[in-house]
Order: sequence, then structure tokens, then C-alpha cells
Amino acid sequence: MGAVEDGAQRLRIREGSPRDALELLTLRRDVLAEGRWFIGTEVDRTLEQEIRNIAALKASLTQALLVARLDGRLVGMVSLTNPPFRRTQHVVKLEIMVEEASRGQGIGKALLEAALDWAEAAPVAKIGLNVFADNARALALYRSLGFAEEGRRSREYRMEDGTWRDDVLLYRFVGGEEPL
Ligand SMILES: CC(C)(COP(=O)(O)OP(=O)(O)OC[C@H]1O[C@@H](n2cnc3c(N)ncnc32)[C@H](O)[C@@H]1OP(=O)(O)O)[C@@H](O)C(=O)NCCC(=O)NCCS
Repeated sequence: MGAVEDGAQRLRIREGSPRDALELLTLRRDVLAEGRWFIGTEVDRTLEQEIRNIAALKASLTQALLVARLDGRLVGMVSLTNPPFRRTQHVVKLEIMVEEASRGQGIGKALLEAALDWAEAAPVAKIGLNVFADNARALALYRSLGFAEEGRRSREYRMEDGTWRDDVLLYRFVGGEEPL
């Protein structure tokens, strides 16, 4: 995995390793605790499970985990995963997060570009993802890199305050695959 670096060579993006597990869990815990971007609000795995999960992604040809480090500190991640069915091996589900203090500086875009580079070279044909309809920053980022809407699930989620959220499904074909 090639490193992506900004002008001052502070940002590096590379494949995740089991050594990243603790920092990844901390990032996930903090972002989920914001309560605004994902369905879950709490981390649902132990450190041991996270280590095993990272090792499994590393060993898989059709899945990946990339981490972003800014001055050596883990500030973001993107994962591309799929369930263990032969009929869905060509589709990966993308999940991305950047720590709150480091957003809006191009790290998410760099992570997504690196994820697309990985997908173009991997034996996968389609990236799919779900995003809350009011997550304007994530939607703008996905659309700017070629993701298109393939559906919307109205009032799919009900928040703790009683408000509804729509779920938007986005996709992008990769590896020369064209829409039917
Ligand atoms: C979504 C997320 C990964 C984007 O990462 P980021 O580092 O903040 O985004 P970037 O700085 O790379 O900006 C990428 C694009 O987002 C858009 N963007 C950035 N800030 C924005 C804002 N405040 N409002 C709307 N769009 C914005 C722009 O299109 C930008 O591209 P541009 O700089 O070429 O114009 C990050 O904000 C995040 O982790 N958010 C919380 C978790 C989350 O929402 N994950 C996705 C769930 S589906």
C-alpha cells in the first residue's frame, strides 16, 4: 500500500495491522460516542476481537483496512468488508471515519482515494455503503469521488429524541465494471 503524504509529509495512509488495534478501538469509541454518524453508539468488540478482525482483513483478498496517521498518530480509518458468501464476494461495504478534531483537512478524501485505489486492483467489482441522509459532509465526499445513489430507506432509523433518519444507499463500480 503506497503512502499518501501531504506537502509537509505528515499524513500517511497504509494497510492496518494488529498493532493498530488499540488506537482503532479508541477512534471507533470516540466517533460512535458522537452519536450522529452511525447506527451504533458503542464499541461492540474487545481488543482481542479487534486484533483478530484486523488479521482476518489482512489475510483476505477481497477485504481491506487502511489507517491514516498524522504525525504518527492514528486519526482515521476506512474498511472494505464483505460477508463470507461466494455470491457477494465482488461487493465490499465501505465504512470510514476521521477523528473529530482532524476533520475538514482532506484526510477523509485521502482515505477514500486510497480505498478506491485498493478496490481498483482487488478482485472486487462494486463498493456499497449506507449513510444518514443528513450527513452532508460524508455525502459530498462520496459524490465527489463518483459514488451514486441507488436507493433510500425512508425513516429507517428512529433516534433517541424521536426524530427519524433516512438511510441513503450509495454505490460505485470499480475495476472497469459498468452499470447494467
Ligand atoms: C465523513 C468524513 C470521513 C470525511 O472526512 P474529512 O477528513 O472530514 O473530509 P475531507 O476534509 O477530506 O473533505 C472531503 C470532502 O467533504 C466535503 N466537506 C468537507 N467539509 C465539509 C463540510 N463541513 N460540510 C459539507 N461538506 C464538507 C467536501 O466535499 C470535501 O471535499 P473538498 O475538500 O474537495 O471540497 C469525516 O468527516 C468523518 O469521519 N465524519 C464522521 C463519521 C462519518 O460521518 N463517517 C461516514 C459515515 S457514512
